Amino acid sequence: TTDHLIAPSILAADFANLQRDIEMINNSVADWIHVDVMDGVFVPNISFGFPVVKAVQQHAKKPLNVHLMITDPDRYLQAFKDVGADHIVVHLEACTHLHRTIHAIKDLGCLAGVALNPHTPIALLEDIIEDVDIVLLMSVNPGFGGQAFIPNTYKKIKQLRAMAQERNPDLFIEIDGGVSQSNAKELLEAGANVLIAGNFVFSAKDQLATIAELKNI
Ligand code: DX5
Ligand code: ZN
Repeated sequence: TTDHLIAPSILAADFANLQRDIEMINNSVADWIHVDVMDGVFVPNISFGFPVVKAVQQHAKKPLNVHLMITDPDRYLQAFKDVGADHIVVHLEACTHLHRTIHAIKDLGCLAGVALNPHTPIALLEDIIEDVDIVLLMSVNPGFGGQAFIPNTYKKIKQLRAMAQERNPDLFIEIDGGVSQSNAKELLEAGANVLIAGNFVFSAKDQLATIAELKNI
């Protein structure tokens, strides 16, 4: 099947050669560019902010799938739209008024997504599933690339796909963390349809071929 999407994560790119790495993605069969924003508060790491997202956007020819690992994302939705976010994904754990936040993202004209940490149950999506375009399941604890995949994710994907079946059949289910050729097929079979990959793509000798491998599963 090739009806799933691939989103390389630029967290694993070479930041001193970011334009080169964005152009590699442009030239690949990847569908989206995954952009990880970390604030050092919601997660124990700081990645990059608006100027870098804007620089990425100036070269990118694919939609920017922006993953906000930040507290109080409502304060910055407009600013991320302004630097070129096509999709804005917020963490459920960071949003007291998630319904309001999701609709604020849609009002900006972006696809709206919610991300769940590994310990956060799918059941918490019960009353928001119809409002979101994207659910991002963290398959590692957010904050760092290159961590080991948490196998409990398979169960969560199946539960989410079952919930979405009737109520939001067009839902994008993205998997983020430790994705590689070794688990990609099983993730898609469980019901995921977007694979995010950082280290697996950027540490590869042939990055274009690695993206194609994930796409052609
Ligand atoms: C982790 C980030 C991921 C990260 C994935 O907090 O949300 O997007 O880039 O990297 P890999 O694929 O190396 O686990
Ligand atoms: Zn991410």
